[in-house]
Amino acid sequence: MKIVHVVGARPNFMKIAPILQAVARAGFAEQKLVHTGQHYDPSMSDVFFTDLGMPRPDIYMGVGSGSHAEQTAKVMLGFEKLCLEERPNLVVVVGDVNSTFACALVAAKLQIRCAHVEAGLRSGDMRMPEEVNRVLTDRMCELLLTPSRDGDENLLREGTPPERIHFVGNVMIDSLLSHLPRAKALGIPEKLDLDPGGYGVLTLHRPSNVDDPVVLGGLLGAVEELQRRIPIVFPVHPRTRKQLETFGFGPRMAAMPGLRLCEPFGYLEFLGLTSQARLVLTDSGGLQEETTAVGIPCLTLRENTERPVTVTEGTNTVVGLDPARIAAEANGILDGGGKHGRIPALWDGKSSERIAALFRR
Ligand code: UD1
Repeated sequence: MKIVHVVGARPNFMKIAPILQAVARAGFAEQKLVHTGQHYDPSMSDVFFTDLGMPRPDIYMGVGSGSHAEQTAKVMLGFEKLCLEERPNLVVVVGDVNSTFACALVAAKLQIRCAHVEAGLRSGDMRMPEEVNRVLTDRMCELLLTPSRDGDENLLREGTPPERIHFVGNVMIDSLLSHLPRAKALGIPEKLDLDPGGYGVLTLHRPSNVDDPVVLGGLLGAVEELQRRIPIVFPVHPRTRKQLETFGFGPRMAAMPGLRLCEPFGYLEFLGLTSQARLVLTDSGGLQEETTAVGIPCLTLRENTERPVTVTEGTNTVVGLDPARIAAEANGILDGGGKHGRIPALWDGKSSERIAALFRR
């Protein structure tokens, strides 16, 4: 059996790494790792391979940035050629980025079996490019591996044949659990001159949050208030950095003494940072789950989430974009509030083993 695994963007790497290892341990398949090159900056890509102990990609496609159509089309052209050469029996895609969708579509057209890891998540908001990718990818894949029961329910509601759906748990938590001790031992807060439990972490990169100066300005307003009470570490995504510069927000941020701007961190450093924070503010998908797994309160700066289990069971609160509400919720946490949460079912570090067992069938 030959398996081709696809990664493209930062949130893919920690999902594929444990699957590669689980399949290698079980030893039933030849594996190839393909990197589309959707993310290409060393801080968005290379460092994750080192941190996660992942083999270098067998094939690097180097598609880079572009419009959605350009990026998706470039991945499709490269991946079709690759599939015709490699003739895999199974293609594995993860998450909801453009590379995920593009490769699933290629596999479907070539009639190659395709597995989608993190299937069934739905925000219900088709204005998000990721929601389009999620819905369409699930429609094309034969093996739908869900991280939480809401994923199964969404797929069934859409008419998916039940035999395609497999509840395997959250594979990203496999990576988190195996790396957490090492990440904490790095002493990241101390290196940044911060007290463990005495700072907040902010991440922003959604087009809906960073491409509109009014929205981004409003979010900075909430941060302005919060950084008066607690230091806020803000690792800046390349897209966000560009927009902050374009909108001329530099001086406003420079006038916030509690705000620490920095480059994106690697996997271990970032896990070391977030797992010892007082609170996390984010528009990321994965971080909503990681904060639930480590029991740190998370405020999601969006109107919805495709990961509702982090709200109903975990430490996440979806607060929207109103600066006053964000500041009020954050103040509530600093005043001793904040959800404690519990760990959702099958977020137990064994999802990759369950996935490998399904591939073997
Ligand atoms: C992508 C995913 C998003 C995911 C995010 C994680 C899609 C539709 N979006 O968004 O779901 O949460 O990755 O980071 O697939 N850039 C660089 N260096 C890089 C990568 C990007 O400078 O290594 C800059 C480029 O200017 C690029 C912009 O960031 O145009 C956006 O990159 P892109 O890959 O289109 O989407 P992300 O916003 O990173």
